[in-house]
Order: sequence, then structure tokens, then C-alpha cells
Amino acid sequence: TQELATLRAGDSITDVAGPLGKPSEIANYGTCCVIGGGVGIASTPLIAKELKSAGNRVIGIIGARSADLLILEDEMREICGELYITTDDGSKGVHGFASDVLKKLLEERTIDRVWIIGPAIMMKVTSGVTVPYGVKTYVSLNPIMVDGTGMCGSCRVTVGGETKFACVDGPEFDAHQVDFVELMQRQRIYTEQEKVSLERFAEHQCRCGEGGGRHE
Ligand code: FES
Repeated sequence: TQELATLRAGDSITDVAGPLGKPSEIANYGTCCVIGGGVGIASTPLIAKELKSAGNRVIGIIGARSADLLILEDEMREICGELYITTDDGSKGVHGFASDVLKKLLEERTIDRVWIIGPAIMMKVTSGVTVPYGVKTYVSLNPIMVDGTGMCGSCRVTVGGETKFACVDGPEFDAHQVDFVELMQRQRIYTEQEKVSLERFAEHQCRCGEGGGRHE
């Protein structure tokens, strides 16, 4: 991710494989709520747009730690019939979490489907809100992925007691069936290796000079 972020306009990458995995289950459900947290907001306009095209009323909730970390607000506002913004520090919108807004909405009206995309802990907490209301809720899982084609096993998750590979069976799963504790543990299994790799990357960047966009 860091290497990709060094690319500038006009730079290129050799190959792109995709789209991988399964598409979102888009249909006319009635009222849908699409929720994004942090960089997870990046996927929300795509899902919201398709749900709207399928005839749904779409409510958006996007949240970040602070106003400066909030992305794609204009895009979501254009698509969603209603858009709520939350920040952890209260610098924009509701001071609190997406789960707070979702809970309030569920108390007031019927919501037929919910999508949640964000950090694992945010998806765990927010999807917990829909359990008592029996609202089908999808989360887009973000385990570590290496090959993205179902061969390496690094993206293994447990859903409904069954082993799944998020890259080919997902990334979206029924939130109420996901073992989030295992997901969060497995996201940390390469922390040491990632640290070493980032140090090597930083050294390489220094040797290549500021802003070098090509790496061996
Ligand atoms: S990323 Fe390797 S099996 Fe999914």
C-alpha cells in the first residue's frame, strides 16, 4: 500500500488482476443503509450507487476519527437520500460513532439491509447494533491477503462456524455470522514482518531519493 502511494500521475504498474471475489448482493430491498468508517468509506459510493439504481432508498453514514480524515463526502451526498457524518472527536457532524446514528435510525424506522465497511472493530460493534432488529447486515472483511485467489490461505476467516477465504468467498459476508475476534487476531499475525518490511522500504526510499516512484 505504501509503495502504491508513492506513485505519481503518469506512473504505471505492470499488472492488475481483478475484480476478485464475489460481487455485492444488489437487489431492491426497500431502505438500505450503507456505512463506511475511515478508509472503508472508499467502497461505499460504489455500493450505494448500485443500490440506488436497483430502486432502494439509500441512507449513508460515514465516520472518521476527525474531519480531516473524512473522504468522499460529496460523492456520498450526491447518491444518498440522507447522509450522516460522524467523527470521534466531534470536529464534524455527530460527535460519536456510526453505530450511535444507526441505533437511532433503527429505533425510528424500518431499515431492510445494512452494509458496513471499515476497521474490524468498527464492523463488529456496528453490526452488533442490528442484531436485536433482525436486519440482514453485510460486512466487507479485510483480512491480510497475499495472492487473492484462494491459494495461500492468509485471508482465512470463520463465518457461521465454517472456514471461508475472504478473497474468493467474500469479501462480503453476513455480519452476524462472522468471528470478529479471530479476524482481529489474524490481522496481527505478521506485525513483526510488516515492521521489518516497512523499515527496508523506508531505507530503499532514502537510497532512491525523495519521492522515487520505482522500486525493485
Ligand atoms: S489471499 Fe490467499 S487465499 Fe485469500
